[in-house]
Amino acid sequence: MTKPSEPLLDVRDLHVTFKIQKQLLEAVRGISFSVYPHEILGIVGESGCGKSAAAKALVKLLPPHSTLISGEVFFQGSNLLKYTESQMQKVRGKDIGMIFQDPITSLNPTMKIGDQIIEGYLLHHKSTKHSEAKDYALRLLELVGIPHASFRFGEYPHTLSGGMRQRVMIAIALAAKPKLIIADEPTTALDVTIQAQILDLMHKIKEKTGTSFILITHDMSVVAGYCDRVLVMYCGKIIEKASVEDIFSTPRHPYTQGLLQSIPRLDMPKDSPLIPIDGSPPNLTEKISGCAFCPRCKYSMPICEEQTPQLQELKKGHDVACWKTAPDQDPKSEEVLLTRQEDCKID
Ligand SMILES: Nc1ncnc2c1ncn2[C@@H]1O[C@H](COP(=O)(O)OP(=O)(O)O)[C@@H](O)[C@H]1O
Ligand SMILES: [Mg+2]
Repeated sequence: MTKPSEPLLDVRDLHVTFKIQKQLLEAVRGISFSVYPHEILGIVGESGCGKSAAAKALVKLLPPHSTLISGEVFFQGSNLLKYTESQMQKVRGKDIGMIFQDPITSLNPTMKIGDQIIEGYLLHHKSTKHSEAKDYALRLLELVGIPHASFRFGEYPHTLSGGMRQRVMIAIALAAKPKLIIADEPTTALDVTIQAQILDLMHKIKEKTGTSFILITHDMSVVAGYCDRVLVMYCGKIIEKASVEDIFSTPRHPYTQGLLQSIPRLDMPKDSPLIPIDGSPPNLTEKISGCAFCPRCKYSMPICEEQTPQLQELKKGHDVACWKTAPDQDPKSEEVLLTRQEDCKID
């Protein structure tokens, strides 16, 4: 995909630290990335690696009394981290929509679904007549594939299945025509058929409306089917950043390779075993020195324990944070290793 030069969202050195009693938990440890118009950017990683903390920090939905956030989050050129709560309320829903994992807790159980769509729309389009907003809400319900939209319009959330409720969440997120939708594990609670339908729908919406998505998931197969580019996170850092094609054809971080070996893939030889990644991530309340993945990595070297590898460009659009880019399909990887070690000598 050719990327336009101006990103819609430009995140620079974002840190999120939770204050838990007297301890500090560094959930996001300096991530930088951009989202371009008309793309689905995947963020993938094991549970607890800081995906949701990062997503909530972007729209300032974390409790300010117990969270320290630093860095910059430029949305259409303005740094959202400098916005007041009332300025953020104008951005949330209108410019940036959000879809979370569990639609039953995100929807208002006492309000008809149609009214919930209209409410969000009218909040940001005050001059629109109610009847026009209703027509628009009906069209949205049809767009997200809710059958008998005019009947469903007057129903309450509890009468809908999980998949239908998630469709309503998407309709609400779309109502204000946001430029970006952050979808945090939007299909994790749903069965695989419904999951595929919802993800197909998001993909179609991107094609039809040009809305960009950040799609957060712990599931590499979701990334494969629906994302344009992907960030792989481990312990609060981005350890690999690439197009989806490159992540699946030439994954270069040992952690990314581990994630791919632990899921079934169509291109695997028949009967090849699924290999889980040994060990577990370190405790984020303790200081991590060197590469956080080092204790679980079969390629670890002395430098990995001592110094944290930074993201470096392997080729255009493909960055990896690893002292030894894992050898695999690419015979040049040993050369890359040597050049990089020369670039980054230990003091
Ligand atoms: N509100 C919070 N208060 C304290 N710790 C939190 C809070 N939210 C998340 N964490 C911790 O931050 C780390 C990252 O969590 P999270 O962003 O939810 O991970 P993910 O979404 O990748 O599963 C975890 O160790 C989690 O326990
Ligand atoms: Mg999460």
